[in-house]
Amino acid sequence: MNLVTGGAGYIGSHFIKAFLDVFQDDNIIAVDNLTEGHASALSFSNRIHFEQEDIGNTEAMVRIFRKYDIKTIIHFAASCYVGDSQINPAKYFHNNCIQTLNMFKAMEICGIRQILFSSTCATYGNPQYLPLNEVHPQQPINVYGSTKLMTEQALRAYSIAQGWSYVALRYFNASGADESGIIGESHDPETHLIPLILKTALGKRKALQIFGNDYETPDGTCIRDYIHVNDLASAHIAALSYLRNHPRGESFNLGTTNGSSVLEVINMCKKVTGLDIPVEYVPKRPGDPPVLVANADKARELLGWKTSYDMQSIVQTAWHWEQNRRY
Ligand code: UFG
Repeated sequence: MNLVTGGAGYIGSHFIKAFLDVFQDDNIIAVDNLTEGHASALSFSNRIHFEQEDIGNTEAMVRIFRKYDIKTIIHFAASCYVGDSQINPAKYFHNNCIQTLNMFKAMEICGIRQILFSSTCATYGNPQYLPLNEVHPQQPINVYGSTKLMTEQALRAYSIAQGWSYVALRYFNASGADESGIIGESHDPETHLIPLILKTALGKRKALQIFGNDYETPDGTCIRDYIHVNDLASAHIAALSYLRNHPRGESFNLGTTNGSSVLEVINMCKKVTGLDIPVEYVPKRPGDPPVLVANADKARELLGWKTSYDMQSIVQTAWHWEQNRRY
């Protein structure tokens, strides 16, 4: 049986939906402490068995692993805001490293040795070349990236010492929502660019703040590689079968190779919504590299994976969700 941590979160819930769509006879276990996740994000199927628990509670995790005879973990649970991580480093080291290591202990006790891990392009830091491939040096410039790199290193060590198989998936910028409209992105507070732009379009915010306009990019604003959350979900499904056939550790970038600047994203949101989006320029946000764009050839070649959504469909699905949010 597969167990998903952070299953009630944005990417976790999209993975679960995609997984249950593909594997019609399977069930899945979702663990979430609901500090950031939403119970309603898991109400779409009765094949989801939900356990409200902290992944860092080793005893409780042992009980859950044994209850469902868990063989593989898909580990999404984490604090995931770059800006917040700079202000609250201890929270990020606790939630992302210590809690994860506590769960690893439970995995050891139960003999579970397969794990898919949500890592990030934030582990690379400032690009030395672009697009970023997996062998680019990992020198994070923010706390969030450091916590994810530390976890990758722990997995590498477990793989060598204990024969664990792991796949670390380094996401670029997760965005968009499932077309069904039943799940989507919902953070409190919201800090991600696309939902903030769309909230501004709806008049829920006065103006979109643009963090810096003197980066060394063509229009001076930061460039990111926005990837649809369902493309991330399908990569996890491909990575699950890879994990079962390759008993070692591997890392893959998940991105589209197409960078969009903050201004380009705003323009796409104007086009899709047909609404005006007021902006104001404010200073750079600490910890933001100017450009992050993926070379995802390795995932295409070894996982047989490809993306299906472009920037316009990312914004269209996010807009549909934003106007009809369920949570
Ligand atoms: N931005 C603004 N104004 C805002 C919000 C964001 O200008 O109000 C800019 C940021 O400076 C950045 C870009 O928009 O250049 C995207 O910012 P997000 O906060 O949406 O995303 P991040 O790139 O900071 O981080 C996200 C996830 C991380 C992940 C990372 C990988 O939150 O978990 O993508 O790049 F690691």
